[in-house]
Amino acid sequence: MIASEHDCHTCAVARGVSRREFVSQATLAAVAAVLAGCGSAGSDTALGPGVLPKPPVISTPMIVTLANFPALATVGGVARVSSQPAIALARTASGLVGYSLECTHAGTTVELRSDFTLRCPNHGAEFAFDGTWTGGQQQTSSLFSVTVTPDASGETVTVTT
Ligand code: FES
Repeated sequence: MIASEHDCHTCAVARGVSRREFVSQATLAAVAAVLAGCGSAGSDTALGPGVLPKPPVISTPMIVTLANFPALATVGGVARVSSQPAIALARTASGLVGYSLECTHAGTTVELRSDFTLRCPNHGAEFAFDGTWTGGQQQTSSLFSVTVTPDASGETVTVTT
């Protein structure tokens, strides 16, 4: 990588740098630039440098009326039920599960797609409808889960951490 006109090979030779040394230094500079841009954990976060995501805190139990989120009537359906903190519920074969929409890599809010999968717009981590990390462009862990407790009538659930 040529950072400035004084870092070119011709100038380097004039300073007594061998071609091998020049290529080695240029390669190291290129690798450093790529690593700086790849968003490794803690270096490029929505939360700030060096701040890693933590499980969400729901200070007041959240009551969710299921009729307001028709997607939750079908297995595989997902709905964002809260923005602050960003929480989603998903209908699995064994019931409702809940999770934070804050990416476990560096804290960016993941996006819910029309097919009910999720993708982080920051570095491309991808998640299944139930919050399980499935791959994508960034290795990370599954989204942080929250506790979902159905009420007796089945019409509402309480979401807590
Ligand atoms: S913040 Fe990096 S993949 Fe989500």
